[in-house]
Amino acid sequence: MQEMKDVLKTLGIKDVNPGVCTGTKWIDTTGDKITSYSPADGTAIADIKQATLEDYRKVIDTAKDAFKVWKKVPAPKRGEIVRQIGLELRKYKEPLGRLVSYEMGKIYQEGLGEVQEMIDICDFAVGQSRQLYGFTMHSERSEHRMYDQYHPLGIVGVVSAFNFPVAVWSWNAMIALVAGDVIVWKPSSKVLLCAVAVHNIVADVLKRNDIPEGVLNLVATSSKYLGDDMFSDKNIPLISFTGSTRVGKKVGRLVGERLGKSILELGGNNAVIVTPTSSQDMALRAIVFGAVGTTGQRCTSTRRIILHESIYEEFKNKLINVYKGLKIGNPLDEKNHVGPLIDKGASDTYFKAIDKVKAEGGKILFGGEVYKDPNCESGCYVVPCIAEVENHYEIVQEETFAPLLYLIKYSTLDEAIELHNAVPQGLSSAMFSTNLLETERFLSHEGSDCGIANINIGTSGAEIGGAFGGEKDTGGGRESGSDAWKAYMRRQTNTINYGSELPLAQGIEFNV
Ligand code: UN1
Repeated sequence: MQEMKDVLKTLGIKDVNPGVCTGTKWIDTTGDKITSYSPADGTAIADIKQATLEDYRKVIDTAKDAFKVWKKVPAPKRGEIVRQIGLELRKYKEPLGRLVSYEMGKIYQEGLGEVQEMIDICDFAVGQSRQLYGFTMHSERSEHRMYDQYHPLGIVGVVSAFNFPVAVWSWNAMIALVAGDVIVWKPSSKVLLCAVAVHNIVADVLKRNDIPEGVLNLVATSSKYLGDDMFSDKNIPLISFTGSTRVGKKVGRLVGERLGKSILELGGNNAVIVTPTSSQDMALRAIVFGAVGTTGQRCTSTRRIILHESIYEEFKNKLINVYKGLKIGNPLDEKNHVGPLIDKGASDTYFKAIDKVKAEGGKILFGGEVYKDPNCESGCYVVPCIAEVENHYEIVQEETFAPLLYLIKYSTLDEAIELHNAVPQGLSSAMFSTNLLETERFLSHEGSDCGIANINIGTSGAEIGGAFGGEKDTGGGRESGSDAWKAYMRRQTNTINYGSELPLAQGIEFNV
């Protein structure tokens, strides 16, 4: 296994890294340096010289020029570049997964899984590059033909969160690339080195293929230099934003004010309904992975279990037992199940939420404290918590981005579905049951109100092939698979008259 310094070298990370990349070129910036610390051990990994607003504006100019060239490249040829990016990512899966784990704190297996999502979306996008199709329609007029076309859109701004430092970019960027768009990525300022590493990997592919500067751009910076300007920027027809509902509402407003398009991937408050006919072993494994995976920092993390009263005590005790056996510690040590939270601020939020649970009358059944261990002194390690609550508590209505799992009791299916939907968010959901009537009901219009609804699998770990996103406070955006590509393109309806008359639609007579 490589030492971290060798991993950094393999990925081209230096002690100080420039914060701007135009795909093929790294550009030195004048912004202040920002240091990236590992939440695993508090080590300063490396520095990034942040992009300033002026740097950002230059990148936008470069991207605009690049779009003029890139949109003319036939889509399957654009797919070929994505295919090569997928091959390159395969070569770097191990070190990049390791860096994701070290810089973000998710366990190594999840770091690898994240890079695998990048590889998968590349494969998906290559196929999609030959399937950017619309419908043909029959015209109401004789000797007329109608059809849909999808054209490249322009610059796509991708603003991603700390919890998926590389995969969220790829879901957006690889689809946008085959769509003929150019990309400007602003990653979370907490995980900038992962973004630098990704751009080092793709730069080789772009250079080898003589792709012009400005197709895949990185603006590594913090809100000190760039925030609202990007959302208000008329040069960016589509902003894809992943983050909190609070910030997402502002993004939606700013992009909406200029009538731009946005894909909003905001908070979740995901529940699993566990019914009496379910396989409890399967439900347990899915719930624990969903609740403590990525230390509860996925937007798809399992936050609520809605548990039938007849199995409540039994399942609760089994769950507590599994939690007792969880190994917490360095995310790179493969024996551990739970790594650190991203920073001290995140653990403060976690403890405040637990205090609120208690203040509202909830009962802490397990965990909820600092994890004390001489090897875990970064201040970010916590013991995952299970709490017995009522769904209407204010704190239960919020998304606490940490491993805080709520147990809620139900007696009838109607009640379970009502409790399930009685939160502001609507991202992911699951039911464990072998009763067809229950599962079909859960998936029907009367069931889950979420963008993702699963049966006998957990709330997290969605495959890239489906459209990813959710309803209500989750923002309504869809990215990744299925036909999510359509959002990255400009739709056009074409009507062609191949006759020698000019009939008007709706039978209107207009003779001049
Ligand atoms: C996120 O947390 O922002 O379904 C995305 C999942 C992952 C993606 C989560 N594929 O858990």
